[in-house]
Amino acid sequence: MHRVVVTRDLPGPALDQLRELFDVDVWPRPEPPPRDELLRRVAEADALVSMVTEQVDAELLDAAPRLRMVANVAVGYDNIDVDACTQRGVAVANTPGVLTETTAELTLALILATSRRLLEAADAVRAGEWPDWHPTWMCGRDLRGSTLGVIGFGAVGRQVAALGEAIGMRVIHHDVDQGMALDDLLASADVVTLHVPLLPETTGLIGSRELSLMKQNAILVNAARGAVIDTHALIAALKDGTIRGAGLDVTPVEPLPPDHPLLGLPNCLVLPHIGSATIETRSKMASLAVEAVLDDLRGLPLKHPVNPTARVGA
Ligand code: GLV
Repeated sequence: MHRVVVTRDLPGPALDQLRELFDVDVWPRPEPPPRDELLRRVAEADALVSMVTEQVDAELLDAAPRLRMVANVAVGYDNIDVDACTQRGVAVANTPGVLTETTAELTLALILATSRRLLEAADAVRAGEWPDWHPTWMCGRDLRGSTLGVIGFGAVGRQVAALGEAIGMRVIHHDVDQGMALDDLLASADVVTLHVPLLPETTGLIGSRELSLMKQNAILVNAARGAVIDTHALIAALKDGTIRGAGLDVTPVEPLPPDHPLLGLPNCLVLPHIGSATIETRSKMASLAVEAVLDDLRGLPLKHPVNPTARVGA
C-alpha cells in the first residue's frame, strides 16, 4: 500500500479520500513538524502533501528514496527545490486557481486598511487615545481616483486589478513580459501591490532604490512573499517618510518575532500570511492537493504539474 505523509491536518473531506486508498500519516500538531521528525516520516513515503512551511530540498529527497510526488498546498512553491525534484523524477503539484479571489480580497483589505490607517486607528481606541472629533485626526487618503500599480500580473494580480477598478482606481501594471517599466510604475502609483512569485530575479525586487522612486504619499502592499522586499530598506523608508505606509501579509521570517522592527512602526500593518485563509478556499486547496496525489499514485497525469518533465526518462 502506498504511504502518503501529510504535514498538517487539512480542512474538508480531502484526507478521508486519501485514507480510503492509502496508508496516510498526518502530522497531528498545528505547528510544522520539526525537521528531524519530517525526515523520519518521509523515509517510507511515496507521496508528500506539504505546506509552505516545509523545505522540500535535496536533503529531504535523499531521506525519502521512495518519494514520487510532492503536492504543495499553495500556489507558490518557493519552499520546494523543483530542480532537485526533477532530477530525482519526483513530480511536484501546486494548487493554482482556487485561491485567486480569496487572496485578491485580502490584498484589497490590506490596501484599504493601510490607506485608511485602520491599525493605528483601532490601536488608538484600545489605548484610550480616541480624542474628540477632529478634522485632521487619523486622516488617510482616498483610493477612488488614485493609481494602483500591480507588480506581477498573473491570476492574483489581475484579480486585484479588477477589484481596484471596481472602487474607482486607475490600474497600471508591470510584469516581465508586459505592462509598463517597473521604474515608471513605481513613480506613478499611489498604491504599489506585489504579486510576483519568489524567484532569484524577484528576491529583493523592491529595495532602497525602488522605494526612493515611489511617491512620498504612496503605500506598498505585499501579499506575495516577504523576500520580494528588502526589509531593511523598507524599515528605513517607513521611518524617514520616503513612503507613507506598508501593508504586509508576508514577511522575511514567518512567524515574525514580536520584537521585529517592522512591528514597531505605526505605519506598517503586518498580517500573518492569511491571503488564502478562508474555510472555503483552504478546503479547495486541500482537495486539489489530494486530487494530485490520487491521480499520480494511480498513474494518471497531474492537472497542475509544476515540473512536467520530472517523469521523462524516469
Ligand atoms: C500561499 O502563500 C500560496 O502560495 O498559496
